[in-house]
Parts: sequence; structure tokens; C-alpha cells
Amino acid sequence: MHSRLAKPLLAALLVAPVVAPGPGRPSRAALDNGLARTPPMGWNSWNHFGCNVSEQLIKETTDAIAASGMRDAGYRYVVIDDCWEVARDAAGALVADSTRFPHGIKALADYVHAKGLGFGIYTDAGTYTCQRRPGTYGHEEQDARTFAAWGVDYVKEDWCHAEGLDAPTQYAKFRDALAKAGRPIVFSICEWGSNQPWEWAPQIGNLWRTTGDIQDKWASMISLLDLSSQHASVARPGAWNDPDMLEVGNGGMTDDEYRAHFSLWAIMAAPLMAGNDVRSMSAATRDILTNPELIAVDQDSLGVQGMLVREGPPELQVWAKPLKDGARAVALLNRGDSAAKVTARFDRLGLRTDSATVRDLWARADRGAFRREYAATVPAHGVTMLRVTPIRAK
Ligand code: GLA
Repeated sequence: MHSRLAKPLLAALLVAPVVAPGPGRPSRAALDNGLARTPPMGWNSWNHFGCNVSEQLIKETTDAIAASGMRDAGYRYVVIDDCWEVARDAAGALVADSTRFPHGIKALADYVHAKGLGFGIYTDAGTYTCQRRPGTYGHEEQDARTFAAWGVDYVKEDWCHAEGLDAPTQYAKFRDALAKAGRPIVFSICEWGSNQPWEWAPQIGNLWRTTGDIQDKWASMISLLDLSSQHASVARPGAWNDPDMLEVGNGGMTDDEYRAHFSLWAIMAAPLMAGNDVRSMSAATRDILTNPELIAVDQDSLGVQGMLVREGPPELQVWAKPLKDGARAVALLNRGDSAAKVTARFDRLGLRTDSATVRDLWARADRGAFRREYAATVPAHGVTMLRVTPIRAK
């Protein structure tokens, strides 16, 4: 009988199941924290430092984000991942590692705020974190209150040691606990795409992982593109697919590969969480992470996740993302092992005219006006990133 329902009504039924919240049952209301209207940007300790986190590292990183131009480029949240926590105290409150964080987490959050940045932290929806530190299960409201009192602006909640638990229920519980704690906190869901989060997470979190963990390798990065892009249609302002954090600058890929990584994350409207040692990054790494034209693509206010629009030989692809002003961001992707010519045909980009101006966003150069198509030679494992602006008929 679905075909009898008017489309908007059907859509409303699909996205807003009517389930009365019972005692102890998290409400099914949509997340409405007003945050992450564009994909969150920031830095997270995990990809480079793992468990080797400390107050000193976070302070030095905060300073470097401010001094390097990253803060001004839009990076906002400084997030400590796993291993900051060691126990619960007699009252059940989370306790930070006092050797690594001698002044406590509140003082550290104050330091980050004083530099004009937001502060983020990590927990886990299960009984332990992935590194066997105390998890939030059974302490949802208490932990949310603790984080709010510390001045936390962003929480990532992982999914280790959660056997037998229902992911939508547990994450909704923490969403509601955060709302009750009364501080605006970006909510990052991290269950690795293992419970179809694209079906429920847009109502619960501001971003949700769609995949397992990234590795600092081309094949890993590309596999996350292929997985996360399958769920492009659910992304929207306030709710983003998260193909995991950036590896740019961590050493396992070439700069061409890192430019491709960054371009593809921008095309996907992915969160841009840098994961490198920003205190000692090369100029090339800094230039990738702070390219304003690439960041503008990611942060475009239309909030649409780009998609694959053409595949020629399988290793040559064209990806496109509609932008607020009617232009398209276009990534010409060469997945192959030698340089190759990749052509973007304007009709495949959904443009209404066949003439457009083209700008190369890595070269930072206008290429001129073109009819019907634009082609470029793209390096092996590389991307040419374009902005294609239709020329309106007079
Ligand atoms: C999981 C997450 C990672 C990181 C680690 C920390 O693997 O997916 O992003 O948070 O746990 O232990």
C-alpha cells in the first residue's frame, strides 16, 4: 500500500518512527543540538599517538594548531582519544590518568578554550573502552554531567565491549544524557558501521563512523571511500557520514596520495579530523591540511555529500559534489599505478548548461571556460580537484 501514500508522508513515516518513550527507554526524538551544521573539523590524538597521550601533548598540539594557521583554516576541536582515563572514583565518576594529566581534564579544557579552540574527549558505550579503560555503560548521565562540567565540546563514543547491547538504544541514551547535561556537545558515534548506523544515527549523533579503522595506506583510504560513499544520501547539515579520521602527514602515503585523501574527504563532506603530529609537520602537510579552497568544498553550506558520477576504466573515476552557489566540486581520481587522462563531462555533473569555467583547486589556478567537458592528466594514485561553475545563458 506504500504507493498510495503521498511521498512526503511516506518519507516522514520512514524517518520518524512513532514510538512513545517508555520508562528507561531512550526517546526516539531526532537529535536537535544545533551543532555541526557543516562537517566537524579538528584534531584527534589516535591515528598518530595511540595511547601515548598527555597534558603536554595536548597543550603543544593546541599551540601548534593556533600557530600553524590550522585554527584560522577552520580546525576547531582538539580531541583526546582513548587512554586518558584510568578508573572510576568511589562516587563512580571517571578519573583521568594523574601522571599523564597532572592538572586534570578541566584545566586542560580551559587551556584549549583560551586558545580559541573547542575541547573533545573519548568514551565507549560498552563496559570498557577498546584499550580496556572504564566505559560509559550504566554511567551515561553521570559521564555526560562530568564532561559538561569539564567544559567538553565534543564527545566520541566508541563501541568496544558492548556485546549483547543494542547500538541505537545505547547511543540514544547517551544523546539524551548529553542533552540533559545542558552543554552543547558534538556527538560522534563510533561503531564502525557495524549496526547500519546510516539508518538510525542521523537522529542520534552529529557524525557516525561508516567503516572500520583507517590505516595510513592508499588501499585502506580508498576502501573507506568506497564504503562510506554508499550512504551519501543520508548526510545533511548536523548529521554526517564519518569515513574515519585523516592520516595526512603520518608518513604512510605520498603527498599525491594525501592530496587525494584530503580531496576525497572534502568531496564526501566528511569530518576533517587531522590525525598527525602537527607540532612537527612538513610545509607540504600543512599546505594540504589548510588549503582554503579544499576546505570550502568540505564545509559548503548546502551540506550534500558528493557521489561517483562516472567510471571509465575502473581505475579512473569522476566524483562530484553540488555546492550552494550551483557550482560543482569535482574530483578526477586516478586509482591506477600510472598517470592517466581523466575527463569530466559536464552533463554527468548535473549542470544545466554545457559551458562552464574550471578552476584547479590544488594548483589554485583558473583554467578558463570550457564546453561539454574538461580533461586533465592525473598522477598515479592522485586527484585533480576542480570547481566547475556553469556559465548561465544570457
Ligand atoms: C577504536 C576506534 C578508533 C580509536 C580506538 C581507540 O578502534 O575505532 O578510532 O578510537 O578504538 O582505542
